[in-house]
Amino acid sequence: MVRVSLTVNGEKRDAEVPPETTLLRMLREAFNLTGAKLGCDVGDCGACTVIVDGKLVNSCLMLAGQVDGRDVLTIEGLATADNLHPIQKVFEEKGSLQCGFCGPGVILSAKWLLDQNPDPSVPDIRDALSGNLCRCTGYTKMIEAIQTIARERTV
Ligand code: FES
Ligand code: FES
Repeated sequence: MVRVSLTVNGEKRDAEVPPETTLLRMLREAFNLTGAKLGCDVGDCGACTVIVDGKLVNSCLMLAGQVDGRDVLTIEGLATADNLHPIQKVFEEKGSLQCGFCGPGVILSAKWLLDQNPDPSVPDIRDALSGNLCRCTGYTKMIEAIQTIARERTV
């Protein structure tokens, strides 16, 4: 077993997991954070996207042991009990998601982009979402939502 101590969504967490455990599995099964989804399990779909030390990561491709001592943000870390995060609010208002399976990863990619670049162009947005496969929306409303957030400077 591997002992892992990390910060998840601002809280110190510890787990003891088999060495082959992925970050995704630890988040979902040890910490009950089920926002990150298991889609392809091979790094293609982005449903498992989280942010580790400020970088976008496919958590299905990272071992739990690799995040020892690091800082992880999942979709559960964005909203408070009473309020959605501004990105989530605009996505909701614009109807930017349908089934939502891709949503946690898409929203974290949008947050990462806006943290790096508060005024992204459409190609910048397409590039940031290129690792997030959405089978429902065609991306247009996601791009509109991210442009709206950038315009309103709500993040
Ligand atoms: S489940 Fe990780 S990229 Fe698809
Ligand atoms: S909203 Fe269904 S996969 Fe994106």
